[in-house]
Amino acid sequence: MFSPKTYIDRRRRLQKDVASGILLFLGNDDYGMNYADNTYHFRQDSTFLYFFGSDYAGLSAIIDIDNDEEIIFGDELTIDHIVWMGSQPTVREKSLLVGVNRTEPTARLYEILTRAMESGRKIHFLPPYRAEHQVKLMELLGITPKMQTEAASVDFIKAVVDQRSYKTEEEIIQIEESVAITADMHIEAMRMIRPGMKEADVAAAVTQIALASEGNISFPVIATINGQTLHNHYHGNVLKEGDMLLLDAGAENRMHYAGDLSSTIPVSRRFTERQKDIYRIALAAHQNAVAALKPGVPFKEIHLLAARTIVDGMKNLGLMRGDAAEAANAGAHALFFQCGLGHMMGLDVHDMENLGEVWVGYDGQPKSTLFGLKSLRLARKLEPGFVLTIEPGIYFIPELIDMWKAEKRFAEFINYDKVEEYRNFGGLRNEEDYLITPEGARRLGKHVPITIEEVESMR
Ligand code: GLY
Ligand code: MN
Repeated sequence: MFSPKTYIDRRRRLQKDVASGILLFLGNDDYGMNYADNTYHFRQDSTFLYFFGSDYAGLSAIIDIDNDEEIIFGDELTIDHIVWMGSQPTVREKSLLVGVNRTEPTARLYEILTRAMESGRKIHFLPPYRAEHQVKLMELLGITPKMQTEAASVDFIKAVVDQRSYKTEEEIIQIEESVAITADMHIEAMRMIRPGMKEADVAAAVTQIALASEGNISFPVIATINGQTLHNHYHGNVLKEGDMLLLDAGAENRMHYAGDLSSTIPVSRRFTERQKDIYRIALAAHQNAVAALKPGVPFKEIHLLAARTIVDGMKNLGLMRGDAAEAANAGAHALFFQCGLGHMMGLDVHDMENLGEVWVGYDGQPKSTLFGLKSLRLARKLEPGFVLTIEPGIYFIPELIDMWKAEKRFAEFINYDKVEEYRNFGGLRNEEDYLITPEGARRLGKHVPITIEEVESMR
């Protein structure tokens, strides 16, 4: 936990930014996975953590801006809970650690909000992403789940995004730690992979490192020989000579800050020449993107730079043709690079994605609906303090190739006969995490082998 001052300062600024009304923060609860007592791993809501720091289930809070009052709501543990789950600090003790002096039982939240609504006061809440939040918002505010995202407070969202987007020095230390643990996960995978192992062996080994750091994984591990499926969570395949394993895995440290790295590792000790050809293109896109990172540059421009680099590389291999800028602007590269170049990272691996990409990644501007660009989570001008990922990839998805080929989509830019030769290539991606600095950008955590020579030297 940070010092109480950190949380007090954050809440004070939030009060100033939203200016009036009541801010409602719903912490997360323990939640049954298959029956009530067999719960999912508890993960506190990131915005609750950011402003109230308390990493316990069953808490909520309000900031009454007009009356300059902060209250944390929660119920003391029953003896049954203590018998099974152990004791915890009291709600008051938890609250004092983050500089909140007033606490109330959970039932009082309903009474206070009901009274506030009766007197016509504005209750600001954030878009819910869990059913438990939806039920609570319905009970507390009488808004049905269908209407809740629309009714969420844009002023509140914007004020939260305006703080959480700019990582402070004490947050950077936490993120560096998470990325360093994440790097160890990838380095271990590079060392251990052998033909005959299962994808599940790699997933288990990297998860072990995250758990042993006393944290957790920051998202479900992707360890797959079918890297062309962007979020592939199947781990049942056996690794064979000639395969590439795509590992996209990250740790969340004790303070719940995320790391997120991707590596592509040859199962044989060397990449094949064909794999090298494609790997070099993705790496060039990566390196060009990293070199372009600096304040003032829209991330969308850097995404398009990576897309143009991929088109250029594909042209050299004979898979594409024509003007690279025209092809990338039209979206023709998205046959191979369907997703975005990167995303914000912080307390969430896709930081604040629950608050809406339009506010987090687009500064309120509308998002493109073009295939490829519609998956770009971050487009806004970069600013010092942003932490983001760089993760270009090249993916041969047979169903997508068949569909585009049948439609003759972008036939002026794509040589479908040549693409056919690669239809079962699979996919690859590398990913690093960067802090935008006043001068440019700095890679976070420790270096993970990324060039062909570096990766092969680990095998
Ligand atoms: N690492 C998973 C993702 O960025 O979507
Ligand atoms: Mn990522």
